[in-house]
Amino acid sequence: MICKEKACMLIEAALAQLSYAYAPYSDFKVGAALLAKNGAVYTGCNIENAAYAPTNCAERTAFFKAVSEGNREFGAICILGGPGGKPQAYTPPCGVCRQVMMEFCDPEQFEVILATGVEDYAIYRLKELMPFGFGPGNLC
Ligand code: THU
Repeated sequence: MICKEKACMLIEAALAQLSYAYAPYSDFKVGAALLAKNGAVYTGCNIENAAYAPTNCAERTAFFKAVSEGNREFGAICILGGPGGKPQAYTPPCGVCRQVMMEFCDPEQFEVILATGVEDYAIYRLKELMPFGFGPGNLC
């Protein structure tokens, strides 16, 4: 289980991303901070699009930044967001983002931190969020 210090570091990093979120259509701004096993942190925000479908969620932005820089081993991610960029409730990852997590993370180990701030967070294992999920191992 991730320690409180690291969880709060990720929450702060995700909060800082809210100001970069590009969400002119929903005004629902999301920030994410992904902790790699080597200690590196990759941040992300949601990036919307006038054609709607190309929208990229904050957590996928973080994953794609990390993978595109050669890092594929991860321990935890913090996700938070809210209308106008003010988190009022937890923002659980969408199904597509859960599937992206399944590609690179051990569902038994990977931790998803949902938060509204450093005083209010909850930690879930990917397995809880994606029970009986499909991953690379299923292709063997
Ligand atoms: N969104 C995320 O960035 N992450 C989530 O986990 C849920 C949804 C974004 C997508 C879209 O820009 C906005 O929130 C409203 O759905």
